[in-house]
Amino acid sequence: METKILSTSEYDIALAGEILRNGGLVAFPTETVYGLGADALNDEAVKSIYRAKGRPSDNPLIVHIAEKKDIIPLVKEVTPTAQALMDNFFPAPLTIILPKSDKIGNTVSGGLDTVAIRMPQSKTARALIRAAGKPIAAPSANTSGLPSPTRARHVIDDMNGKIDAILCGEDCEFGVESTVITLATDTPTILRPGAITKEMLERVIGPVAVAPAVLEGMKNNEVAASPGMKYKHYAPKARVMLVNASKEKYESFVNAKKDAFALCFENDDINIPKVTFGKENDDISQAKELFDALRQLDEMGAKKVYARIPHKDGVGMAVYNRLIRAAAFCIIDLEKPFTIGLTGQTGAGKGYVGKYLKELGFHILDTDLYARRVTEKNSPYLSILAKEFGNDIIENGILNRQLLADRAFASKENTELLNSITHPAIIELCKKDAEFPSVFDAPLLFECRGNEQCYKTIAVIAPAEIRKKRIMERDGITAGQAEARMNAQKSEEFYKENSDFTVINDGRDIKNQIRNILEEIL
Ligand code: TXA
Ligand code: MG
Repeated sequence: METKILSTSEYDIALAGEILRNGGLVAFPTETVYGLGADALNDEAVKSIYRAKGRPSDNPLIVHIAEKKDIIPLVKEVTPTAQALMDNFFPAPLTIILPKSDKIGNTVSGGLDTVAIRMPQSKTARALIRAAGKPIAAPSANTSGLPSPTRARHVIDDMNGKIDAILCGEDCEFGVESTVITLATDTPTILRPGAITKEMLERVIGPVAVAPAVLEGMKNNEVAASPGMKYKHYAPKARVMLVNASKEKYESFVNAKKDAFALCFENDDINIPKVTFGKENDDISQAKELFDALRQLDEMGAKKVYARIPHKDGVGMAVYNRLIRAAAFCIIDLEKPFTIGLTGQTGAGKGYVGKYLKELGFHILDTDLYARRVTEKNSPYLSILAKEFGNDIIENGILNRQLLADRAFASKENTELLNSITHPAIIELCKKDAEFPSVFDAPLLFECRGNEQCYKTIAVIAPAEIRKKRIMERDGITAGQAEARMNAQKSEEFYKENSDFTVINDGRDIKNQIRNILEEIL
């Protein structure tokens, strides 16, 4: 099919309106992203949108109107809340979901009994809807799964030859799609954040909820409040990873990478290939640039991209929401020095799990070894211990371990005092050595509050009988001794409650359990 490349002149808009009236497909600019329009009341035309985009048929489309009153025939009822939103915002980058009327076919609504309505702020978009004389169904005008188009060139790249016409206008003002809010639930709920923020909405209609899937991945068995949540989105060909870090930490982390690209803010000091998306602390500029930046990365042939994480407030929520999806929820948290905190019951098989993680390329920080380093000859921590437990515990720079143990374990207070010195010291030493991705391997992970320094925690647990047998074999001790040791430990419930994930070592495939966990967190 030959695609007509049109301007936004009155003449071309009239021509495009006629194409839409006749059941054709026209891409057009809006203030958010370019849309791919068809007559919303013509089922065949709407079906061809899904075909051109390669979009799953259960993902409903937004119906665009040119006047507020045009909503009336499309919904069951304009509720007072809907009316308040329309009066205060329309025309705006805001989409309202309400129970649909009989006029809305199942193709537009993806089989749901609700419909999404939006009156765009863009004058060109509204002139086109008026020229067509119909409500216009329009998703973003990109190939399904790719970043939404914010420049006419993006639409030409994705849709040339597949649709009837493209209205080429200016770059989109906001650059992220409209805020989607459903009024079909008890509390109005944001399903997709955009330029109309939660705070702006709450000022008009009171409390507004944010669907959990907006900022986190969907859980495996969760039903999507909005079908669009469950599909892969905005994804460039490159593998994108979000890096949560201050400007300085991000710069030094990224500048040490080879064969990678940075997706950063304008003022970041980066010396590997980079693409920027707006300014730090300016979410509006980030929103405007993001999708174009993702497309540029593909054009530059990026394979691996480390992206600076934006804040999540105001319009930042929309930027963050798009970027974590582009990154398939992969976050490297440099503010948390350790990727995984590993702990578990004695005899449960923590060592085996650690070994497997090492094989997979994790850098293992064994706290038992670091505990020795804290008290080795000439360690700077010795003088701190001497101050609390007596100068005679050190002789010629060497710690008298027995003497320290006698004093430290004499009372509960003294033991706590010892821990309050050694635990932070161990964490400090490990932090200095940590390389990404790292495992902080600690039997007392929670007791030493090391978990607070870990992105995610894994506890290894196993049935008591299995652990007893292992401990007896490993340490050559009797059943009674093994039991005594096990009784001094925290319960299985403790580990389950405190850790993000548990690996159960009872004959089930451990490697498989670990791979599943890693898939979820990385
Ligand atoms: O800014 C925008 O909204 C752009 C421009 C072109 O107007 N359009 C847009 O459409 O982003 P699209 O199809 O790419 O995204 C629509 C989103 C999808 O995530 C879809 O699942 C959701 O809105 N949606 C549409 N109707 C819905 C409904 N009845 N219930 C729940 N979610 C709905
Ligand atoms: Mg889209």
